[in-house]
Amino acid sequence: MLHNAGVTMPDRRCVTVELLGHKGDGVATIDGEAYYLPQTLPGERVLVQRRGKSDWVVESVKTPSPARSTSLCRHFGRCGGCALQHMAQPEYLTWKTEILRSTLAQRGFDHVKIDKIFQIPPHARRRVVLSAVKTASKTVLGFQQRKSHQIEDVSECPVAVEEIEHTLDAVREMLAIALRVRQTARVTINATQSGCDVLITSQGVPELDGKTAGVLAGRAAQHKLARLTWGDDLIYQREPPRIAIRSYDVSPPPGGFLQASEEAQDFLIDRVIERANNAQQAVDLFCGLGTFALPLASACKVRAFDADRYLIDALTTAAKKAGLADRITSEARDLYRRPLQAQELRAIDLVILDPPRAGAKAQIEQLAISSVSRVIYVSCNPATFARDARILVNEGFHLDTVHPVDQFLWSPHTELIAELYR
Ligand SMILES: C[S@@+](CC[C@H](N)C(=O)[O-])C[C@H]1O[C@@H](n2cnc3c(N)ncnc32)[C@H](O)[C@@H]1O
Repeated sequence: MLHNAGVTMPDRRCVTVELLGHKGDGVATIDGEAYYLPQTLPGERVLVQRRGKSDWVVESVKTPSPARSTSLCRHFGRCGGCALQHMAQPEYLTWKTEILRSTLAQRGFDHVKIDKIFQIPPHARRRVVLSAVKTASKTVLGFQQRKSHQIEDVSECPVAVEEIEHTLDAVREMLAIALRVRQTARVTINATQSGCDVLITSQGVPELDGKTAGVLAGRAAQHKLARLTWGDDLIYQREPPRIAIRSYDVSPPPGGFLQASEEAQDFLIDRVIERANNAQQAVDLFCGLGTFALPLASACKVRAFDADRYLIDALTTAAKKAGLADRITSEARDLYRRPLQAQELRAIDLVILDPPRAGAKAQIEQLAISSVSRVIYVSCNPATFARDARILVNEGFHLDTVHPVDQFLWSPHTELIAELYR
């Protein structure tokens, strides 16, 4: 604050945004220090006001960038789900590609070719994980607000499939019935071919009493959910949720991991199949419910591993149903604690690897000293991918091209697929 003749004036000034940081926020230097200014773009002149001792907030954009576009969602700016809806498409895709390029360069991959980014359309995301809280006045369901523990009460989401959007009010209504004031919940909604599959977990309400469960089951039926699960309890099931992985029918467990969109799932499967030529025996690590193992089984035998035994059960059942029981074997195994050892990989000529954001360092170290000559790495975190790829390349693998996939639309996250070979 500035003090002028006894009146406290807000400390305001105009600054120029220099660049976009890794999380999609503009960065400007104020009094020699860099500050993040959300929803601004490089080159923009913005009026900022000091907030507290060490923060600045944007009051208005004085000179907008030519790359500025109108955001699609009324929650943009508060909702922590999207960071970049205000940026025009070409600049947005270039920014994502350049972030990937600099992340790879940090591990010495300056000359790796980055393919044209594959982008999913709006309203394509079929899996969302939301937070909820019941307050004295209402029940809030949505994404965490930016830089805050508050939840943005979401009524629309241009990222999610419309079926999920249309389910939000029903889920909010069910939470209002089952939660007590101040109780929180986590809600996973998977849009499946049989309808929405909703999993609610709440530490405050580990089990529902019979009457509440009955009321919720009635609401779930009324809103045509495929299934409603509360913690470990099945509350309602109209029919088992089903998703299609190419021609294979898979029934995911409640809240089970799915690739965020069918479009990206198909793109990734195509790239895996293209590179599987002549493989005899493949291993699918972090296989989930068989996104890659099932389509791959027509080309070669597959051994599949994942820590989640419910996903493994889903894969085993789908493989049996498809007559692939002799082509796919699946096993629940924690690959962080018990990575496949180099000697276990002796007869393997292709490895597919799709770990969580933390990457797969322990597993990669075993691959690096194994006889495996081809690794297809699917990653939702370019930084851990680059770290792991560096380990393989130091042991004689090559990395020529990376294919980025924008399936986390308007967020700073980028998925990728890459082949490493000896
Ligand atoms: C990004 S998902 C990929 C799933 C699958 N490849 C797909 O496309 O559907 C990561 C998978 O890693 C599994 N996972 C997480 N931690 C694990 C661990 N320590 N060991 C083995 N699998 C793990 C999760 O259960 C999840 O299925």
